[in-house]
Amino acid sequence: MRVCILMGSFRKDRNTETLTKTLIRSLEEEGIEVDYITLRDKHIEPCTACWTCQDVFDGPGCPKEDDCDEIFKSVLKSDCIILATPIYSWYCTPPMKALLDRMVYTMNKYYGEVEGPCLWQDKKIGIVTTCGYGIEKGAGVFEEGIRRYAEHSKLDYIGMIGMKDKDDLSIYQGDEAKLLLSVLVDNIKE
Ligand SMILES: Cc1cc2nc3c(=O)[nH]c(=O)nc-3n(C[C@H](O)[C@H](O)[C@H](O)COP(=O)(O)O)c2cc1C
Repeated sequence: MRVCILMGSFRKDRNTETLTKTLIRSLEEEGIEVDYITLRDKHIEPCTACWTCQDVFDGPGCPKEDDCDEIFKSVLKSDCIILATPIYSWYCTPPMKALLDRMVYTMNKYYGEVEGPCLWQDKKIGIVTTCGYGIEKGAGVFEEGIRRYAEHSKLDYIGMIGMKDKDDLSIYQGDEAKLLLSVLVDNIKE
């Protein structure tokens, strides 16, 4: 079992990353392999709708030369993808949004000359987030977006763990965080 965690926070070792590192410890305790990718360190071009990928069926097939190829490889060899991001303007951060756009085309070959495969069908996808508002008000729109994204992409949506922005980072490592995250870990293992 392998989990690819895509980290969308720009702030190293702050809210979202501290909570996500608690998840990583829990996954590793369960013997689950983790690929941890910090998107802030990657060059991720936006999808510019060239459609080239739609007629390439044996891989992502994106002609852009940036760091997405290595991210696609990690996603494709994982059983589960975790989107870890702070909420920015009711959605994820820009590098994660750019990556989601790149993947919703390169992985789903729905719009070419003939309909092709869905390269990531049946993988699991979940969310770890922190936000300023309460979880429903802050992260509800993003969660709904990812539910629809998962349905469109034939992915298995396994849920969202969200915690509010707090100055005391220890709350992202404490019992409440561990309890919340244990639900996600169970869904990953299921
Ligand atoms: C540019 C920006 C936009 C934000 N937009 C929202 C928002 O729409 N809703 C919300 O609840 N919190 C919002 N926040 C608050 C962050 O989601 C929150 O502080 C989060 O815990 C930061 O995580 P980090 O420490 O990993 O950066 C925003 C913060 C920034 C900097």
